[in-house]
Amino acid sequence: MDRIAIVGGAQLNGEIPISGAKNSAIKLMAASLLTDQPLRLTNMPRLADTRFLGRLLQRLGAEVVERDGEAGAETVLRTSEIVSAIAPYDLVRQMRASFNVLGPLVARAGHAKVSLPGGCTIGARPVDLHLKALEALGASIDLHEGYVYAQAPRGLKGAEIEFPFVSVGATEHTLLAAVLADGETVIRKAACEPEIGDLAECLTAMGAQIEGAGTPTIRVKGVARLGGATHSVIPDRIETGTFALAAAMAGGEVRLTKTRSDFIEALLLKMEEAGVGIARAADSVTIKRDSAKRLKAVTFDTEPYPGFPTDLQAQFMALMTLADGESVIRESIFENRFMHAPELARLGAEITVQGGEARVTGVEKLFGAQVMATDLRASVSLVIAGLAARGETVVNRVYHLDRGFERLEAKLSACGADIRRVRDNSEEL
Ligand code: EPZ
Repeated sequence: MDRIAIVGGAQLNGEIPISGAKNSAIKLMAASLLTDQPLRLTNMPRLADTRFLGRLLQRLGAEVVERDGEAGAETVLRTSEIVSAIAPYDLVRQMRASFNVLGPLVARAGHAKVSLPGGCTIGARPVDLHLKALEALGASIDLHEGYVYAQAPRGLKGAEIEFPFVSVGATEHTLLAAVLADGETVIRKAACEPEIGDLAECLTAMGAQIEGAGTPTIRVKGVARLGGATHSVIPDRIETGTFALAAAMAGGEVRLTKTRSDFIEALLLKMEEAGVGIARAADSVTIKRDSAKRLKAVTFDTEPYPGFPTDLQAQFMALMTLADGESVIRESIFENRFMHAPELARLGAEITVQGGEARVTGVEKLFGAQVMATDLRASVSLVIAGLAARGETVVNRVYHLDRGFERLEAKLSACGADIRRVRDNSEEL
């Protein structure tokens, strides 16, 4: 299995272009099931997760063409007809977001059978809010042998839906179903993440009528059919934040281009509080840090957008391992998202975890070691720590990184990092 080897100590200087957002792209791809016309998505990231979803969509009847357009990678999806409304366990288990095909399949075909995703390494992650919303829209839902059977033979009907708490996935899923429902749907306590606005913009370009996306109340007037569209995927705010934290960890000056600094304002404010220099521009952000000066420990809680994102918690924790003082990090979105703490400890970090709270006492130095993590963001936090650790850090189970970061090693090494992929065909012990 491939590994990433990093020799710490090199500063980062230069520019890193940010890719299209993974968590937007996969929902936009699912939207292509709602029409028989082509949906052309530009600024597409090329990732294991997008390839994987492409394969599932093909099984459902989509034609998926990946190509290089004038403005970079694009994907054209066309589902002239739904040939199967079944998403099997093996496919949903490998990528939870596959579950989001349920709503579009019911809305377009009137029925679907989709495997329940089950828990994952960051928490139980139930889908009860998704199912309640689909029921409110008039679908009958039955659960048998790990599958959701949904039926709405006469179509979905608009409804008032108030979520008990914010869920990105449930908000997106409800939008994906409500656009073809008969009548008006109001979604209250909707998630406000930029990916919701992106999905709504794409659906609107396809002919949907949506107001208020990006605010806690979204109104959708259902339409009888949607058409094709061309839509550019928003920049990946988590990739932006990750490279911002990598630059802060290694020191130097890095300009992150093709991105939006307003998407990560909560992060940038915390980085400034810690002593990192930030210069915001219209479509870029520059991170500057003198590595001779120690950063200050800062404290934060993860929250729904516009709060500090849970998907940057692990990476910020890596930065705090070398800061001066104690940082208290509270994870309020997922119940088990500190799996990186014991791995960071292998590099010499001092972290104690109790329930949803981690206390990081900054140390003077980290030392390279073999590490591995159980999810995407945790894995990249180990890469960030490795950039500043003495000696070599080897991050195992690289497939997590390939799911969500496009050309990670190439982007970092172009700025001076000593990082390489080690191809290894030998058996793991
Ligand atoms: C999305 O997950 C992202 N995934 C996650 O990124 C991200 O961490 C998360 O939003 C929060 O920002 C994708 O977009 C593919 P939620 P999602 O529904 O939609 C609970 C990454 O690394 N909940 O907002 O699954 C849930 O268990 C990934 O890219 C229910 O209880 O997150 C969690 O505690 C990891 N019932 C909380 O709500 C439900 O029906 C928020 O989850 C749905 C959610």
